[in-house]
Amino acid sequence: MSKTVLRNFKTRFIGKSKYGNEQWQKADSKWYDEIHNQNTELHENFMNYFNSKKDIKTILEVGCGTGVYPIKYKDLFQDKIYTGIDFSKANIDFCRAHSNFEFIQGDFLKMNLPNKYDLVYSHAVIDHVYDIDEFLRRIIKSCKKYAYINSYRGFFPELNEHNMHWRDDDNCYYNDLSVKKTKETLLKSGLTEKEFLIRKQENMDKNGKRWDETVIEVVLNN
Ligand SMILES: C[S@@+](CC[C@H](N)C(=O)[O-])C[C@H]1O[C@@H](n2cnc3c(N)ncnc32)[C@H](O)[C@@H]1O
Repeated sequence: MSKTVLRNFKTRFIGKSKYGNEQWQKADSKWYDEIHNQNTELHENFMNYFNSKKDIKTILEVGCGTGVYPIKYKDLFQDKIYTGIDFSKANIDFCRAHSNFEFIQGDFLKMNLPNKYDLVYSHAVIDHVYDIDEFLRRIIKSCKKYAYINSYRGFFPELNEHNMHWRDDDNCYYNDLSVKKTKETLLKSGLTEKEFLIRKQENMDKNGKRWDETVIEVVLNN
């Protein structure tokens, strides 16, 4: 059994894995602001996307961190029902102390959520999870109409499989998403080709450094 398979098995079923970056446990809002600001164009793109959809009432954010969106940009969700999920208890305590929206603490890969949401979105989380395809399947399961999933590490149309690199110093994976495998997983989840788009998103950080990211947009034809 490979190390990756064994680690994923332990994380999912036995709960003995060390999965969880130390930074995530600290509720360090400065660190979250910094990583948010490294994705300037991505966030501009997401906000334009969000503002263009007039039929969104309920929203789920997976991996909300210390709540940049529901706290700093809360006006975006005026008159909406927002729910944020994060793995880290410290982050969720921080969000609850600074916002009246709903927050759920736990591992999204293990959650059976009772509700579906008009929009499910997630920024810079799929890059680190221990099961990329399960993450995608669960997003689709919780999605009533729209999903917007960002992977900040790059755009990899040439990869046949996802590349997952475990880092002991960070206790999480650094994942490169295969566009081909992502497409396969979404089709197997019951989506038709017309219901999703896997695209390149240009990005720039605050120092002007540029790179490509991945955005997966889903629109369900209910
Ligand atoms: C790199 S941060 C991204 C935070 C924020 N979305 C952003 O774009 O700045 C990853 C976040 O996802 C959360 N996370 C990682 N794996 C998770 C999982 N399996 N379930 C729920 N949250 C998870 C971490 O606790 C952390 O807050």
